[in-house]
Amino acid sequence: MGKVIAVVSGKGGVGKSTVSAGLGRALSENGKRVLLIDCDAGLRCLDKLTGIGETLVYDLGDALKGSCTVNEVIYPVEDYENLFVIPASQSEVISETILTPFVNSLKEYYDYIIMDSPAGLGTGFLSAVIPADTVLVVTNSDPICAASANTVRLILEKFDKKDKRLIINRFNGTYFKKLKAMGDLDSMIDATGLRLIGLIPEDPSLIAEFLKGGRVKGKSETMMALRRVASRIEGAYTPFPFV
Ligand SMILES: Nc1ncnc2c1ncn2[C@@H]1O[C@H](COP(=O)(O)OP(=O)(O)OP(=O)(O)O)[C@@H](O)[C@H]1O
Ligand SMILES: [Mg+2]
Repeated sequence: MGKVIAVVSGKGGVGKSTVSAGLGRALSENGKRVLLIDCDAGLRCLDKLTGIGETLVYDLGDALKGSCTVNEVIYPVEDYENLFVIPASQSEVISETILTPFVNSLKEYYDYIIMDSPAGLGTGFLSAVIPADTVLVVTNSDPICAASANTVRLILEKFDKKDKRLIINRFNGTYFKKLKAMGDLDSMIDATGLRLIGLIPEDPSLIAEFLKGGRVKGKSETMMALRRVASRIEGAYTPFPFV
């Protein structure tokens, strides 16, 4: 049975979709069969970050309404044998009571199902979190984002989500040192109350590569960091590079 991973944040725009797209690629490079589900109704972007936009006809809402088959809404990502995407519904937000059984029915066909949550703590957030075995909370390295990550952690505890980890995205060591507001990186991590699983550097070139679709060349620091997250998810001991 596959593992369901929700990628969430309190604050918007911290990089949930970028992390979902990169982690999906990294896990599938390791030979894992991965399905990305875009839960961001109306504002979908995983289709663009995986290059399937041109071929897109049906979305999650269509499959759940029965306007298409499940197979018709699962799009393969070019150049990746094992990576697939379900684009977000363009209109209605899908509740967890509808999405959870759908996700559960797909678990046997994939090693990982990655749910890209919308920003905020509403219905879309819950529908990503409720079916999840693991929740990755994405933050940027500033005090406002760290406080939001801590709020998300408290909510996840109410839902008894035990396996929850922190990803710090868009990390820029020089900026972080200048900001001083958080003290050192350990204090920032402590402020979220979560265990770190990924430290992803700021790197616009990776997003440019994602937007092209197809296989990423993948030598960038950012993609390497996402591959380390993938290996930690797979249970490997992968030390953090010195920052
Ligand atoms: N590591 C990174 N380096 C540089 N730019 C990044 C990085 N991660 C994300 N970005 C950029 O930050 C912006 C927000 O990223 P993304 O859409 O992944 O965030 P999000 O959390 O999914 O947003 P939303 O809350 O709207 O769903 C985008 O312009 C993206 O290209
Ligand atoms: Mg997003």
